[in-house]
Amino acid sequence: MATTRSEKILRTKLCDMLGIKYPIIQAGMGTVSGPTLAAAVSNAGGLGVIAAIDLLPDELRRWIRKTKALTDKPFAVDTIFVKSLPKSLTMDEVREQMPAESMDFAGKVRKEIGIPEATGRTDTMIASRQIIEEQFQVCIEEKVPVLVSALGNPEWMLPQAHANGMTVMGLVGNVKEARQVAEVGVDIIIAQGHEGGGHTGRIGTLALIPQVVDAVHPTPVVAAGGIADGRGLVASLALGAVGVWCGTAFAVSHEACVDHIEDGIYTQWEIDLRKQKILDATEDDPRITRVITGKTLRNLSNKLVQKWEEERGPIIKQWPFQCVLIGDLQEGVRQKQMKEYHPWAPAGQIAGMIKELKSSRQIVDDMVAEAVEILSRKLPQEVDIGPA
Ligand SMILES: Cc1cc2nc3c(=O)[nH]c(=O)nc-3n(C[C@H](O)[C@H](O)[C@H](O)COP(=O)(O)O)c2cc1C
Repeated sequence: MATTRSEKILRTKLCDMLGIKYPIIQAGMGTVSGPTLAAAVSNAGGLGVIAAIDLLPDELRRWIRKTKALTDKPFAVDTIFVKSLPKSLTMDEVREQMPAESMDFAGKVRKEIGIPEATGRTDTMIASRQIIEEQFQVCIEEKVPVLVSALGNPEWMLPQAHANGMTVMGLVGNVKEARQVAEVGVDIIIAQGHEGGGHTGRIGTLALIPQVVDAVHPTPVVAAGGIADGRGLVASLALGAVGVWCGTAFAVSHEACVDHIEDGIYTQWEIDLRKQKILDATEDDPRITRVITGKTLRNLSNKLVQKWEEERGPIIKQWPFQCVLIGDLQEGVRQKQMKEYHPWAPAGQIAGMIKELKSSRQIVDDMVAEAVEILSRKLPQEVDIGPA
């Protein structure tokens, strides 16, 4: 019988550690990766990840249960484990404590552009340790097999996570952070290079991965930032990584954002717009901005972000103040369907290569097939390593 693509074998240590078929992880992406995407990737042989950065504990529990109903394979939850956040802070308290200078500037922008005050649901963002701790308890109760720390040092939750049989992964952007999370006992480190979508550091993937691999040995390292096909996967393995963590590639899959639409968090037009924006992007379009979250975020820009940058609007670095300030404007933009001002479209530089909307299974299958072809035929044919 002919071997189909999905029957190809491509195994690394990561597959054994996570109980998955292929060393491909769909990155946690707030506003993008819900149960439908996570389950589709896990069913395709990779590891699907639910992003919990904008979920309340009960919403997370519901999405974990939905994921379990869609797949019997392992999956992960990605959230932040920043201990330095206030113990308890509600979104309304964030709004009350917003610096006057920022409020004034946002008010001016609202007036000049004509953004209406939003009615109904506005975005939630993790603002307090209490939410993080409750999310963590939900993951334990629901027996989530893998946890990913997107930001901060997850040291405080490791003993309990390990006692409950969880594998813990930590996302880092430089060698110093990698050493810190390796020393406290994180099981797998995800090293994300500058070119990646979303929050990102200053070091490019090609330089970052081997240096992190050397620094944290024997802790396994997963490569992230600019990886969307079999070439990126093979290159990552050559740099010493045991697998890949891909965001932008899956952000334009059919399954991306499906649950957000089903739950009324987003509507079809804006998800179609965001996916199309990524498909239309060149490698130079995703730019770094602090306007959206206060941290360096690689994003496809728009007129609202551009105006804020051109007029040197204030940036609040303390999490999650800038997110809430911009989120409140964004809500009005969404409700009035002001397409040119839609601000939330994180994407990496690899967006320039992604020109087709595919299913998650197809993305995984294509990556595996291409990687196997490169490793088994292309490289042996093209690289002469015989005697001189
Ligand atoms: C739309 C989008 C949203 C993201 N949100 C999160 C998030 O909530 N948590 C997180 O750990 N990383 C987030 N990231 C970063 C990804 O997890 C990942 O590290 C990055 O996308 C990898 O680079 P790539 O986009 O080149 O594949 C996001 C990325 C994108 C594109």
